[in-house]
Amino acid sequence: MSKEINWLEKIQETATFLKEKVGGEMPKVAIVLGSGLGNLAEKIDIKVAIPYSEIPNFPVSTVEGHKGQLIFGTLGKKYVMAMQGRFHYYEGYSMKEATFPIRVMKAIGVKVLCVSNAAGGMNPDFRVGDVMLITDHINLFPDHPLRGKNYNELGPRFPAMNEAYSHRILDLARKIAKKNKVRLMEGVYVGTQGPTFETPSEYRYFYRIGGDAVGMSTVPEVIVARHADIEVFGLSVITDLGGEGIFVDVSHEEVQQAATKAEPIMTLMVQEVINNLDEV
Ligand code: HPA
Repeated sequence: MSKEINWLEKIQETATFLKEKVGGEMPKVAIVLGSGLGNLAEKIDIKVAIPYSEIPNFPVSTVEGHKGQLIFGTLGKKYVMAMQGRFHYYEGYSMKEATFPIRVMKAIGVKVLCVSNAAGGMNPDFRVGDVMLITDHINLFPDHPLRGKNYNELGPRFPAMNEAYSHRILDLARKIAKKNKVRLMEGVYVGTQGPTFETPSEYRYFYRIGGDAVGMSTVPEVIVARHADIEVFGLSVITDLGGEGIFVDVSHEEVQQAATKAEPIMTLMVQEVINNLDEV
């Protein structure tokens, strides 16, 4: 076994840094902005923005289209923190590194996490540019963020995953979509390591095992959030299709374009859900 890093110390160090740097009350809601969704940050009235490179113990984001900063500010009526750019397993980070920001969120008092991502759609009802409410996930990553020593201070050894995505927030999101006449799809997100997109057979396989969309992120963060008893809400933008008989030739640029197209709906959904959450 490799030498254990003392994660508790690191989490506390980073949380203390952020509390001092940002000052005042800390947000109860955090948002992870995925591929091509970074512009949603423009809707946040920013109080403080801190590049990841200046945050102790934070990895540095490497992917194109990810700015890599932590934002504190107001979205609608709610004070939030947002990760503009996330850490993907395929970039080479360990699972513990990739999910470290979620631990820090918990340490500063976050109660609700909103995750967003770009995903390939397998469900035949989906179209490019659709927004999918994540109702559940299937974890196909080859490593697990909770593998190794469990810190009971952070959460239980064997956490339940029966309600990974908060049912009450799912209901709220459905009501908001209806009220605003938004075409909101629903489905199960399959998390894979990437960085290759899927072969046609892999898309078919993911659909047959119960997935509606597939992507290379989110699942590790959601697992860590649930371990820490943070309530989770997630949205995917369907940026390409991998359904039966559909030929896809997907590129990173196309993913970015489709994500940009879906941005107004993503923004509306994220903002309205957060603003209508009680207790936070
Ligand atoms: N597969 C995996 N990840 C993705 C895809 C996809 O088709 N689209 C956007 N991210």
